[in-house]
Amino acid sequence: MMISRYLWLSLLLMIVYFLYSRGFIEEIKSHLTERTLNIADTIYFGLNENSGGPKVFTMNELKRHTNLENGLYLSILGQVFDVTKGEKHYGPGGTYHAFTGRDASLAFITGEFDDQGLTDDISSLSQRQVKALDDWLQFYNANYIYKGKLYGRYYNQDGSPTAEFRKVQEKLLLAKREKAMEEKQERMFPLCNIEWNRDTGTVFWCTEKSGGIERDWTGVPRILFETAGAQGSSSRCACVNLDSKEYEDNKARLSEYDGCEKYATKCVLRNKT
Ligand code: HEM
Repeated sequence: MMISRYLWLSLLLMIVYFLYSRGFIEEIKSHLTERTLNIADTIYFGLNENSGGPKVFTMNELKRHTNLENGLYLSILGQVFDVTKGEKHYGPGGTYHAFTGRDASLAFITGEFDDQGLTDDISSLSQRQVKALDDWLQFYNANYIYKGKLYGRYYNQDGSPTAEFRKVQEKLLLAKREKAMEEKQERMFPLCNIEWNRDTGTVFWCTEKSGGIERDWTGVPRILFETAGAQGSSSRCACVNLDSKEYEDNKARLSEYDGCEKYATKCVLRNKT
C-alpha cells in the first residue's frame, strides 16, 4: 500500500518535471495570468458595461478591438470610439486599420504609421497641431459612437483626467484663443484680392467681399505688418476702412503701397525692370 503511494507520487513528479522541462508550465502560467488579468479587467472596469454607457477601458481591453468580431475601436486623446461602421477605412487591410485597438493620437497629425509614430505622446505637437487633433476628436464625436475613456496617459483608472490631459487642454485653449484673435484680425483687416501678371505686375484690390469677409465697406489696400513698427516683420495685404477705429488703433502696423494713390481701392505694383 505504502509502496504504491510512493509510486504514484514519483510518477506525478516525473510528469511535472517533463512538462516543466518542455516549457509547458510557463505557457500554462502565462495563459492563466493573462486570463486572470482579463477577467479582473472585465470585473473591475466593466461594471457599467452592461448599462451600455461609457466606461474606462484598459489598454489590454482596447487591444482586442481590432476586428469585426469584437468591433473596431480606436482611441484619440484617451477617448474611445466604436468605428465599426467605418469598416472600409478601419477594418483589417484598410488604410487606417493601424488606428484601431490603441491610442495613436500623434499619427493623426504626423501621418506616420510606424511603431514610433503610433503613439499617444503628443508633447512634440505645436498649439496649432493640438487644435487640429482636437478637430479629429470632434469628427469622431460627430460621426461615431463614443464608448468611454482609456486608462493611461490621459485618464486615471476612475476616469478622471490626468495632469497630462490638463496640459493638453491648456495648449488647446491657447490655440483656440489664437485662432479667435486671427479671425477677429481677418474681420478687421480682410485680405485683398491679388493677381499677378507678367506684363502689368502685381495687382491688389478690395471689394465688399474680398478675403471672404462680407461687409458694408470696401476699404483700401495697405501693407499690414505683424508687429507694430517692425517693417521687417512678416506682412500681408489688408483692406482697411480708413474711417474705422481699428485703423486709428493700428496705424503703426499699416503702410501705404509705393506708387498707389491714398484712397484708391486698387493698386498696381509694376514689375521692376
Ligand atoms: C496625416 C495624414 C492623414 C491622416 C491622419 C488621415 C486619416 C484619415 C482617416 C482617419 C480617415 C477615415 C475618416 C472616416 O472615418 O471617415 C481618412 C479618410 C480618407 N483619407 Fe486620409 N489621412 C491622412 C492623409 C491623407 C492623404 C494625404 C490623402 C490623399 C492623398 C488621404 C485621403 C483620404 C481619403 C480619400 C479618405 C476617404 C474619404 C471617404 O471615403 O470618406 N488621406 N483619412
